[in-house]
Amino acid sequence: MASCTLLRVVVAGASGETGQSIMAALLAEPAQFKVVALARHESAGKEVYQEMARAGATVEAVDFCDVETLAARLVAADVVISCLLPLQRVESETLIDAAHRASVGRFVPSFFSTIMPPRGIMEVRDVREDLLDRCKLIYLPYTVIDAGSWYQISLPPPYAPPPPLATTVIGDGDIPTAMIDKADIGPYVARIIADPQTLNRFVFVYGEVTTLNGIWTEVETATGEAVPRDSISVVDLEARIAALRSSVTADPTNVGLVLDLAMGQYLHSRHVRGDNTPDRAKYLGYLDCKILYPDVKCKSLHAYIREVVDGKRDYSVYVGRDVVADATQHRD
Ligand SMILES: NC(=O)c1ccc[n+]([C@@H]2O[C@H](COP(=O)([O-])OP(=O)(O)OC[C@H]3O[C@@H](n4cnc5c(N)ncnc54)[C@H](OP(=O)(O)O)[C@@H]3O)[C@@H](O)[C@H]2O)c1
Repeated sequence: MASCTLLRVVVAGASGETGQSIMAALLAEPAQFKVVALARHESAGKEVYQEMARAGATVEAVDFCDVETLAARLVAADVVISCLLPLQRVESETLIDAAHRASVGRFVPSFFSTIMPPRGIMEVRDVREDLLDRCKLIYLPYTVIDAGSWYQISLPPPYAPPPPLATTVIGDGDIPTAMIDKADIGPYVARIIADPQTLNRFVFVYGEVTTLNGIWTEVETATGEAVPRDSISVVDLEARIAALRSSVTADPTNVGLVLDLAMGQYLHSRHVRGDNTPDRAKYLGYLDCKILYPDVKCKSLHAYIREVVDGKRDYSVYVGRDVVADATQHRD
């Protein structure tokens, strides 16, 4: 760990949705953070990285599968943040090993997901836990940060980017779930990585807690119009998940099926089991962002929906990206 107050932070996956939120918050505090974005060689020329460089970041092209050169890039880092996808498993493992070799002071693995028990709920979570186990095996100092569901992907159409994920009310639609404006993740991360009390701990960041019915009602109030509500029963959702699990077992390389299964499992966790709440997080040992940093102000769902409905808020995510193709390309 560096002895000066300027924290040297290296971000992998900086160009992604979560990565951009974190980079914006870090680059807004140049007196506190010196920021490096690691980019794949084939991505380093992208406009998004050029913009980060203009905003004060150092952009370094690296091979995410070469532990030695990666470790050399991390030697001066106080904090390494991974915003890679869990499917980028080899790269994620290599980053952990490189951070260990470089003796970084804190590693933030790519969780940033909704709350659920560590194992047995969904395969994607199991991968994240495997990566955390790898950190613990080598006593790499870590902080896990999970986040509520993004507002950006949780509104019914036409107020979410295509393909809309929130077209259907699950069961009665009244299970509480935590949410957040994606833009509010970065400011919390900036506080967490500078805070000694979050070292080797789990932290839950969220804006507010609502329900599926609450979201629909907010949209209807803002538009003054009824928003069609498809619904699926809990029994039918569970049958769909079971069928997808069989299909994935039969064809584990089919990334489209893997992602469909993950989405079904996320819905079940959030809207049937009710995992994604501050109370469940507290039970699971998480620190709560609202208690740690009461001065951090989050966008309310109400205000976000008003901005979207009034055309004042860009809610696009993954622009120009084919998520299935990306995931397929990076599996090996
Ligand atoms: N709470 C929620 O509602 C929510 C919603 C979505 C995601 N998440 C979670 O947030 C975390 C980050 O996901 P995201 O959606 O923000 O990510 P994303 O937008 O898909 O970005 C992925 C990043 O990884 C980089 N990347 C891709 N392939 C790579 C490779 N082979 N080697 C090295 N880097 C590679 C990409 O960089 P280049 O392409 O520029 O090289 C990009 O910066 C994940 O854990 C995800 O599950 C949470």
